[in-house]
Amino acid sequence: MKILSGTSNPSLSKSISKYLKTKLVNTNIKKFADGEIYVEINENIRGNSVFVIQSSATPANDNLMELLLCIDALRRSSAKNITAVIPYFGYARQDRKVVPRTSISAKLVSNLITNAGAHRVVTVDLHAGQIQGFFDMPVDNLFTTPLFARYIKKNIRSKNLICVSPDAGAIERTRGLATKINADLAIIDKRRPEPGKSKVMNIIGDVKDKDCMIIDDIIDSGGTIINAADALIKKGARNVHVFITHAVLSGDAINKIQRSKIKKLIITDTIDNSKKIKKASKIEVLSIAQLMAEAIKRISNSTSVSSLFN
Ligand code: R5P
Repeated sequence: MKILSGTSNPSLSKSISKYLKTKLVNTNIKKFADGEIYVEINENIRGNSVFVIQSSATPANDNLMELLLCIDALRRSSAKNITAVIPYFGYARQDRKVVPRTSISAKLVSNLITNAGAHRVVTVDLHAGQIQGFFDMPVDNLFTTPLFARYIKKNIRSKNLICVSPDAGAIERTRGLATKINADLAIIDKRRPEPGKSKVMNIIGDVKDKDCMIIDDIIDSGGTIINAADALIKKGARNVHVFITHAVLSGDAINKIQRSKIKKLIITDTIDNSKKIKKASKIEVLSIAQLMAEAIKRISNSTSVSSLFN
């Protein structure tokens, strides 16, 4: 088994390889003057099972293309099995036609990964679970709920916890967390008048004097959770903690969070934000390296991955 790292999140790849006590495959990944990506593998990988770690985070198109080129290089170098390990699976938000004449980017990306030559995909908190069905190969979708539940049990001691789903799409994930930490559930009725803008219409559930735990898969502009936190505080919530797997954090999101009513934003390192959030006192990062490494180990040994979440 070998681990090859793309350039999107080298520190996560290093932590995973350290946990697995494996060296990263020696590669040369660079760009031509015009921006085209060049991938070269500098060691023999014939007959090996190779796990390529690459998030398709910003710059999404470059990182996605690099993933495809890595898979292609491995296939052409006679790797026996290629697993695309995609901690943050970008382009997942367009998973169906919400309005006419739009693309379904999640399906296109799954076709590209398949055609490049991957045999399996490992990812974390897919935006929509059904994206697994866009692939005709095994897809292991790892969950961060146990990680967040452990954090809450250790750091937020309260008898008044309530888990809040920031929109209809996050209900299942929120219910999972509520069950794990034995808390109530509230749901926010969010509407999107246009892409990138969100509006809270209503809160279903009693949040008065409660310590609210919002959980979601992605934070992008920050609008969804900032509006949610405002609405919860207005309804009498005591404080708001937010748990997000994929911290896209585009534009002015970090400053907006610092200025918001959110007490703390807990994110994971599926996307490398280490430089961006250095001064953001409200943001804390939990690493998913151990979870990903353990999943890779189990896939490699043909043992159960799902039992990781029992
Ligand atoms: C949408 O369904 C996702 O789960 C997130 O709620 C969304 O991507 C967050 O975006 P933003 O931070 O821009 O509101």
